[in-house]
Amino acid sequence: MPIQINGSPVQVPDDARTSLLDLVREQLHLFGTKKGCNQGACGACTVLVDGERILSCLALAVQYDGRAVTTVEGLAEDGALHPLQAAFVEHDGFQCGYCTPGQICSAIGMAAELERGLPSHVSGDLMAQEFALDREELRERMSGNLCRCGAHNGIVEAILETYGEAAR
Ligand code: FES
Ligand code: FES
Repeated sequence: MPIQINGSPVQVPDDARTSLLDLVREQLHLFGTKKGCNQGACGACTVLVDGERILSCLALAVQYDGRAVTTVEGLAEDGALHPLQAAFVEHDGFQCGYCTPGQICSAIGMAAELERGLPSHVSGDLMAQEFALDREELRERMSGNLCRCGAHNGIVEAILETYGEAAR
């Protein structure tokens, strides 16, 4: 079965060593997903697989046979930005913008984790069914995504505006 990438079927690469990141960037020329460290430390390569966030630099493309992958290019609908993309623009959530696609995909995955009631390292009650997205939760849950040029305040505001209330 092909991999569905942003809704289009893509053949699994013949070379089983191809990472999902290299498939989307080098073979499909979807350059939104960024290669930062290429070793799982920065979050720049984050994409969604069946709605869950993963680091595409650490994923072999062959593992995603039959799965639905969404990159930042797949988030806008009918020419309209995803609400989180619009919030990043409104709150100046980027300076160089290199980390931005990963931040956005990661935050969307994080919101889905909150909806599923998954606790984080700083959650007080591990058995709670719901978790409020306060700044402490947000910073912990987004800690795998680094921004080296200091746009973190705008990033936090954009995510809070989009998901802060929905998570309560
Ligand atoms: S490029 Fe994948 S985590 Fe840095
Ligand atoms: S906006 Fe430059 S690394 Fe985040």
